[in-house]
Amino acid sequence: MAEKRKIVVTSALPYANGDIHLGHLVEYIQTDFWVRFQKLRGHECVYVCADDTHGTPVMIRARKEGITPEELIARSHAEHLKDFGDFQIEFDNYYTTNSPENKELSERIFAAMEASGAVTKRSSPQLYCEHCHMFLPDRFVKGVCPKCGAPNQYGDSCDSCGATYGAEELGSPVCTTCGATPVVRDTEHLYFELEPQHDYLEKWIPGHTTSDVSNKLLEWFKEPLRGWCISRDAPYFGFEIPGHPGKFFYVWVDAPIGYIASLKNLGRFDMWNDPEAELYHFIGKDIIRFHCLFWPGMLHAAGFKTPNKVFVHGFLTVNGEKMSKSKGTFVNARTYLNNLPPEALRYYYAAKLGGTTDDMDLNLADFVQRVNSDLVGKITNIASRGGQMLQKRLEGRLGRLDGEGRALVEKCRAAADTIAKHYEDRRFNQVVVEVCRLADAANEYFDRREPWKTVKTDAETTRTTLTAALNAFRMIAIYLKPILPVYAEKAMKLFGETEWTWASLDSTREDCALGAYEYLASRIEPAQVDAMIAAAKVKPGESGEVSHESRASKNKARAGEAAAKPAECSPLKAEIAFPDFEKLDLRVGVVESCEIVPKSSKLLKFVLDAGALGKRTIFSGIRGAYPDPAALVGQEVVFVANLAPRKMSVGVSEGMILFAGEPGKCGGVVSPGSAAGGGTAVT
Ligand code: MSP
Ligand code: ZN
Repeated sequence: MAEKRKIVVTSALPYANGDIHLGHLVEYIQTDFWVRFQKLRGHECVYVCADDTHGTPVMIRARKEGITPEELIARSHAEHLKDFGDFQIEFDNYYTTNSPENKELSERIFAAMEASGAVTKRSSPQLYCEHCHMFLPDRFVKGVCPKCGAPNQYGDSCDSCGATYGAEELGSPVCTTCGATPVVRDTEHLYFELEPQHDYLEKWIPGHTTSDVSNKLLEWFKEPLRGWCISRDAPYFGFEIPGHPGKFFYVWVDAPIGYIASLKNLGRFDMWNDPEAELYHFIGKDIIRFHCLFWPGMLHAAGFKTPNKVFVHGFLTVNGEKMSKSKGTFVNARTYLNNLPPEALRYYYAAKLGGTTDDMDLNLADFVQRVNSDLVGKITNIASRGGQMLQKRLEGRLGRLDGEGRALVEKCRAAADTIAKHYEDRRFNQVVVEVCRLADAANEYFDRREPWKTVKTDAETTRTTLTAALNAFRMIAIYLKPILPVYAEKAMKLFGETEWTWASLDSTREDCALGAYEYLASRIEPAQVDAMIAAAKVKPGESGEVSHESRASKNKARAGEAAAKPAECSPLKAEIAFPDFEKLDLRVGVVESCEIVPKSSKLLKFVLDAGALGKRTIFSGIRGAYPDPAALVGQEVVFVANLAPRKMSVGVSEGMILFAGEPGKCGGVVSPGSAAGGGTAVT
């Protein structure tokens, strides 16, 4: 193998104002495959990332939730890290762009850019709200689309016709914060001039990304390159620009610098500018301009090393269509994990990713089928059949390979260079093809030697057969280690080993004990996928913003997930006549307080403000569905106001709150003070 390489790898920094979803995971999972492969090969490889915390959307979201931006980004950081960790994505450092390292580096790089003469000042007209005393960022202003006349459009682009424009072009603009009509005022901004780097970038681009990407970028080089506006007016959540009071770095300036800051925080700043080290960015096709034009331009102007390659991937579609909140195909990482194992998605993504910018489809039926037939039925089956038979019938001892067995193992070993090349070139789908081919060979060998028959008469021949099959499986599991790290770890323990590297392919396991067979992967059921989709579905009328919803509605979504597992449906009670129904006095109340009842695993104590009826105390057994009772405070609920008070061990319950079940499963039973779990408050 070649000498030890030094490699820095990044994935794009996810925005701190949203949850991680299956689309994001296309990127983080494939980067993780590649990094783990490099590590398995014995190279020094560091994988750094961070949350992208600055800019207007974080400000808006924090304001909506009534918390500070710092509180919002701290919460997202913890959630993102947990999501990534549970998907077995292993960063060497996962940092934040709101860090002292990033501030210092942003200032330093900007100063170098300024010193190189690439930063200019220009004045341009922009909408200003005299009531809020601020220039309005695009997302703070709405008005009539200048192209198609659709009302209620944001200041940058129209949802209706797709046109892009400047906010000052909107008809009848209003400030979304206060409703006032903004005025047009001139404001000065800083621009990063790219034209001085025209020739440098034109030469740089083709060698540093794929040809489809570079051909598109190079179209812009027929004309002089336009300057890029890199400042924003206060108030802005970000870094103030030294020497330019009231001006802040546009989030896309300090975001990529966040890669370097994360590396610095890891204590490996040396690796960035090290001429011996290689530097790679994994990104989606929507952010090419920032990574293949502005970013190398900034780095070059500031005298920093530019990336060796920018690896661009396509977008995720689900069942052939754009992810959709109303169809339930816009699935958050957590929603997936509540229903399905991470290995299944890692395996499926590997099987579909070919290192191109083509979009990638997650076809849910194909997903279930591929995982079950290939990962479980084909690959894992070798270990489970072979391992269990060896344990149960042959004292769990591996024997020696015979000629035929050695040929099988050699066939597996012979694929090493091909598989390594596929990994290196990010053709993970070809890795999977190769691995399945080897698994087919191992299964064919196993079936031909019929160990389930020979075990009755000839223990040693059977041992020889199982030794070959299991050694073939061992090699397959080593090949899969970057894709399925936890799976491979368990497989390694089965063979009684403590570390697997690429060099482990050179050895075989013979004449030794096999560890206890531990479950490696199990079949997935279409019902699990259905439950996931039901949990992800945004009902009509609900906010379409899965990743931007309020704390309370987020908890609601969680409650739905918890209950989305297959549940038994209670039988219906006897039919009632209308006069019976009419006896119910249903009223709306506002939750004034809601707290956990000590010593009870289920009960929550509600105090409702029922207007003219006064206050009502109601005990309800729905805690399982609402882990955060504080989030219910302030919500409106429907309750039965004329139910006879009921004395419970914890106090008197004065009514019953109604909860509705989630779609896709049976409705819960509602009884006084103990609504069925999994319900959502009717609001
Ligand atoms: N914050 C910026 C990146 C700054 S990098 C200095 C950003 N964040 S993002 O959260 O919107 O996206 C993060 C990465 O996930 C991007 O590379 C983006 O292309 C990728 N994806 C987001 N949605 C995706 C799909 N639906 N499908 C595939 N990748 C997607 O952009
Ligand atoms: Zn205003």
